[in-house]
Amino acid sequence: MCGIIGYIGSRSCPELIYQGLEKLEYRGYDSAGIAVISSGQITTVKAAGKLARLRPFMGGLPAAAHIGMGHTRWATHGEPSDENAHPHGEAGASVIHNGIIENYKELKLELIAQGVSFKSETDTEVILHLLLAELQKGTSVHMALLKLLPQLQGAFSLGIMNRDEPEALYLVKQGSPLVIGCGKDETFFASDPLPLIPYCQHFLFLEDGEFARITRAGAEVWNFAGVQQEKPAVTMDWDSAAAEKNGFNHYMLKEIHEQPQMFSSTISRHLDLHTNSLILDHLGLDKIDLAQVKRLHFVACGSAYYAALVGKYLMETLPQFPCDVELASEFRYREPFIGPDTLVIAVSQSGETADTLASVKYARAKGCQTLALCNVKFSSIPRECHSAFYMEAGPEIGVASTKAFTSMLLNLYIFSLGLARLRHTLSAEALAQHLSQLKLLPPLAAQALAQDKNIATYALQFLHETHCLFIGRGFSYAIALEGALKLKEISYIHGEGYAGGELKHGPIALIEKSLAVIAVVPRDKLYDKMLANIEEIRARKGRIIAITSGNDPHLAQTCEAVLSCPAIDNPCLQAVLSSMILQQFAYYVALHRGTDVDQPRNLAKSVTVE
Ligand code: G6P
Repeated sequence: MCGIIGYIGSRSCPELIYQGLEKLEYRGYDSAGIAVISSGQITTVKAAGKLARLRPFMGGLPAAAHIGMGHTRWATHGEPSDENAHPHGEAGASVIHNGIIENYKELKLELIAQGVSFKSETDTEVILHLLLAELQKGTSVHMALLKLLPQLQGAFSLGIMNRDEPEALYLVKQGSPLVIGCGKDETFFASDPLPLIPYCQHFLFLEDGEFARITRAGAEVWNFAGVQQEKPAVTMDWDSAAAEKNGFNHYMLKEIHEQPQMFSSTISRHLDLHTNSLILDHLGLDKIDLAQVKRLHFVACGSAYYAALVGKYLMETLPQFPCDVELASEFRYREPFIGPDTLVIAVSQSGETADTLASVKYARAKGCQTLALCNVKFSSIPRECHSAFYMEAGPEIGVASTKAFTSMLLNLYIFSLGLARLRHTLSAEALAQHLSQLKLLPPLAAQALAQDKNIATYALQFLHETHCLFIGRGFSYAIALEGALKLKEISYIHGEGYAGGELKHGPIALIEKSLAVIAVVPRDKLYDKMLANIEEIRARKGRIIAITSGNDPHLAQTCEAVLSCPAIDNPCLQAVLSSMILQQFAYYVALHRGTDVDQPRNLAKSVTVE
């Protein structure tokens, strides 16, 4: 939530920062702003609304400025307005912030009692005034930070600019992400490496409780006690083209279409195609003492939680571990029955979700082993876990998760096969059969994408729905939940996912002739049970849209519409394919309704505050 970026070097920086904010906009888009120093002056432009609203003001920044910082906001304290937009600054200093200062009210009251007047309703402005109070006494930024940081409670990644020190920027990290990018005679910082990838390959990741001073020559880092820290640089070789739309109208559509290729590369990373055997090297198990593990506990949020529901089914049937799955926001405040025999697996695309990160810290404190299944390398969750298993899905920019969700399913499947092999719970023949089926996924995924015209056409009939139900059983239950989430996130149509068996326990009361029910009905062992649900809906005149596997003449006759999905005799891979149909359905409904597909209202891709 909120993206921050900054630059110091010899390039003209206003446009560079603006372009960086474009890459960070998925983190929040309530307002944006940029501040630069030039000729001993700080100049700031900011505007409420999406980043494009800042464009007309960019001419107000001196083009020659070579030091500056920018912010794109997801509002927590104070409505999205020009006043509440960051950077916050007086003539002498400027601050950008990602996070929440939990004790800002007390600090604000103290400052008001001292005669300070506030221009915004943000929690961030207290940091500015605490800093200015020190600077006015002649204190350096370094010493001012050592004094003020212990007063702040909550999460805060900060960028700080001081007019009297125009060849440096100060950064602070506590709870929210921050990375420093090291170029040749130029230094950057940002909330994540994505906007910096066109400029540098070497990165320093600050840890919580650290602050840094960056100049064009590099970075010096201290902890909050003032002790200097050594920071090894890590190298990242992401392809910057992977973060472009590459001819698609939306990131979401591009990411949906990347799935067949993504599946191929995931499968070839984990499978020796010549010997049809599993490669265990990249599963993150080397640092886990498997002999100690008696049960698994998944923690995750949003789509990652639904992927983890599939993970539970896999872990219980393949490696045969008792397995729980829980929303991270619940787990972290409970007293779950976990300990050294529990492997807690944190599933997260971004690796930054605040509740998931806090859950990992909590699990570690309880003596559990922890493993991250994440997409973004070197992000906070994998760094906090004992071990990491990377999905390698490439950057996902569309706020609604698509390829990262199916990548989680595929990687959880591969992971469960790896565990099953190590625990000898699958025969060699059964394992070989799973691996052979895996190889069928990429071409079937391409066939699922070839359904897009049918899906787009049917989506036109769905435009004026106000609410609907999604139902499924077994693996398709999680897919129904994810399908409902996708639709509501981007089209704002209310969709609710239910297990088919739960229909009679409440939701059936909603069924009448105007209600649409989207039933995920692959030909699996629960097919007949789903047909019974469909008959119950028909008997009450509900409308049914079926997501089938292959041709299904019976459903074609009984349902309002059938969106056909390629068939595979494997519940997890079928779930991946059904999910791809529902992604396209949500996309086309949203597209026809004219909503902002990539940046739906009120959402942010990376939820770094509670
Ligand atoms: C946000 C996003 C969702 C995502 C969830 C968890 O709510 O909008 O798409 O599923 O966070 O994100 P993570 O990065 O932990 O997978």
